Amino acid sequence: MIVSESDGLARILAPAKLNLFLEILGRRPDGYHELETLMVAVDLYDTLTFADDPSGQIVLTCDDPGLPAGRDNLVVKAAELLKEASGCSRGASITLEKQIPVRAGLGGGSSDAAAALVGLDRLWGLQTPGAELDALAGALGSDVAFFLHGPAAVGRGRGERVESVGLDRRLDFVLVIPPIGVSTADVYQNLEREQTPPERPRPIGPVLEALAHGGPADLGGCLYNRLQPTAERLRPELSRVRDALAELCPSPLGGCLMSGSGSAYFGLACDRNAAEDAAGRLLALGLGQVRVVTAAR
Ligand code: C5P
Repeated sequence: MIVSESDGLARILAPAKLNLFLEILGRRPDGYHELETLMVAVDLYDTLTFADDPSGQIVLTCDDPGLPAGRDNLVVKAAELLKEASGCSRGASITLEKQIPVRAGLGGGSSDAAAALVGLDRLWGLQTPGAELDALAGALGSDVAFFLHGPAAVGRGRGERVESVGLDRRLDFVLVIPPIGVSTADVYQNLEREQTPPERPRPIGPVLEALAHGGPADLGGCLYNRLQPTAERLRPELSRVRDALAELCPSPLGGCLMSGSGSAYFGLACDRNAAEDAAGRLLALGLGQVRVVTAAR
C-alpha cells in the first residue's frame, strides 16, 4: 500500500494480491475453512482519496457503476467499523478509482477496505494500534489483514492471521483476467463435494524456501492452489486459460496458477522481458485482459 498526504487529503494506492500457494487444512465450526496461504502484493492498484467531513457522514464515490457505493461496499463498512471502534465523530468523503478487476481472486475489495482503515486512521489522527487495525481487518474479510502486512505474507486461520515474510527480490508475472468472474463463496461451498480436508495437506515449507532462496523455476514448481480444480469445474471455460499458460512453461514462464478463488490466472516469469513475451502471446489468444505486473519489496 502506498500512502501520501497533501492539502488535508490522504491518498492511497491499494495493490492487488496473488496467492502463490493456498492449501485447505479443514472445515471450521463457523462454516469457514482453515487454510494456509502465501500472498504477494503486485503493482496493479486501485486509488482511494479521503477528505475529512466534519458532518460525520461517510460518502463514497466510485468510478465503477457496477459496484455498490452504499453500505454494501467494503470501503464504507471499513469506515463505519473504524468510526464505531474509535468513537470518532468525524466523517469522510472517499473516492475510489478501480483498476483491480472484481471477482477475480485478486483481493481488490479487501485491499480497498484495508486502505480505508489506514487512510481514515491517518485523516482522523486516530493512531490506532496495529493489533487493533488487524482485528478490524479480520472482521471485515478473510484477506483484508494481508494488505496491512504486504508485500509478502503467510495467511492462516481463515486467512486473517497474517505473518509477513521477506521479499528481497523482484518477481515478474503475467496476469490473465478472463471476462467471467467467480464467486468466492461458491468455490468454497463446492469444495465440500470434493475431499475436504485433503488426506495429506501439502506443506507450505517448500514454497517459502523457494521464495527465500530459489530461482523463478524453483518457485514456479512450488505454486499450488487447492481451490483451482473446483473453480475450473464450476467454470469449465477457465481451463482454456490454464492450458494456455501451461503451454508457456517452462519458458518463458517458470510456473502458473489460478489466484485465490479465481478467475484470474498468473504465470511467474524469469524476468520482465519474459513476462512481456508471454503477455504478447497470450493477448493473441483472446482469453481476456492480459497485464504484466511485478511484486517487489
Ligand atoms: O471472508 P470473505 O468475506 O472474504 O469470504 C467470502 C466467502 O468465502 C465466505 O463467505 C466463505 O463462504 C468463504 N471462505 C471460507 N473460508 C475461508 C475464507 C472464505 O469458506 N477461509
